[in-house]
Amino acid sequence: MEPIRWENNTLYLLDQTKLPLETAWISYSNYRAVAQAIETMVVRGAPAIGVAAGYAYCLAAQAYQEAPSFAAKMKAAKERLAASRPTAVNLFWALDRMEACLTACGNMPTALSALIAEAQAIHREDVAQNKAMGQLGAEIVPPQARILTHCNAGALATGGYGTALGVIRAAFAQGKVAQVYADETRPLLQGARLTAYELMEDHIPVTLITDSMAGALMAQHKVDLVLVGCDRMAANGDFANKIGTYSLAVNAHYHGIPFYTALPSSTIDLSLPNGSCIPIEERDGGEVRTLCGIQTAPAGVEAWNPAFDVTPYKLLTGIITEKAVLYPPFQPELRRLFGSMAG
Ligand code: MRU
Repeated sequence: MEPIRWENNTLYLLDQTKLPLETAWISYSNYRAVAQAIETMVVRGAPAIGVAAGYAYCLAAQAYQEAPSFAAKMKAAKERLAASRPTAVNLFWALDRMEACLTACGNMPTALSALIAEAQAIHREDVAQNKAMGQLGAEIVPPQARILTHCNAGALATGGYGTALGVIRAAFAQGKVAQVYADETRPLLQGARLTAYELMEDHIPVTLITDSMAGALMAQHKVDLVLVGCDRMAANGDFANKIGTYSLAVNAHYHGIPFYTALPSSTIDLSLPNGSCIPIEERDGGEVRTLCGIQTAPAGVEAWNPAFDVTPYKLLTGIITEKAVLYPPFQPELRRLFGSMAG
């Protein structure tokens, strides 16, 4: 399963707002439309947003090839794309990488083929990193594991294969996974719509629960491990992920259940000392007042809708990356393994 394709100088995105009821691909030749697709979550998940932004940058370069102020237009395109969603650092990481490629090519329209190669490299590397973290992460999965996950950190959220779901895929292939529990993940139901769909496609046993059932499931000793994705990790190991992750971490801590996050190095932001510095996206309250577009609350009721929360590093058992599984103290380990990438 893959959510992003680049064919004949056109970007194709699998419309994740329609899944699982409809499998619809949308073609893009305009970078502004891709920025909108990121905002409306046609494409979502930290690594997938980065991959899509890389290709969108190529679309901008393609459109502005003949423009007299090519370099200025590319700067504006980068700014528009960077303004689409604030939390997942992969977006900014990918755009900086694309801009560095353009700079290395002298900021000239002739850079187009180098830019396309760079975006394809970002895409390819993401899949390879997911597979590497899948193999490393599978080692921490106990036999007959019952794993709880939140939101969607699967193939759909990445260039392909997935981070947390990549670990589950690798562990399942080794015969270690007895059961996955997927939180439905209100308000936009990425767990119900996307994670349940992905796991069923791969014949991995999955049981869907509402977010509020997770604590009871843990209290009944039905969870051996909690495994989630990540949108941005600060230097001390604090990390932002889909709203509800923090409640899961507190619950897992109380019940003595190991709690891991899986992430590629493109999700690590060593420029931020701790989680309080991570910008958290607040989305329209309408998403909370409705369910799949159907009104479920009194019209006009105030609704709070942060898309992410921050889990303090103290609640983390370990961090699964493509290089290694990290254990506390996280700060020196993150610095040692990823320090050369710090901006
Ligand atoms: O709002 P979303 O659907 O983009 O949020 C996605 C998540 O929170 C994922 O867990 C995270 O991006 C990691 S995906 C490998």
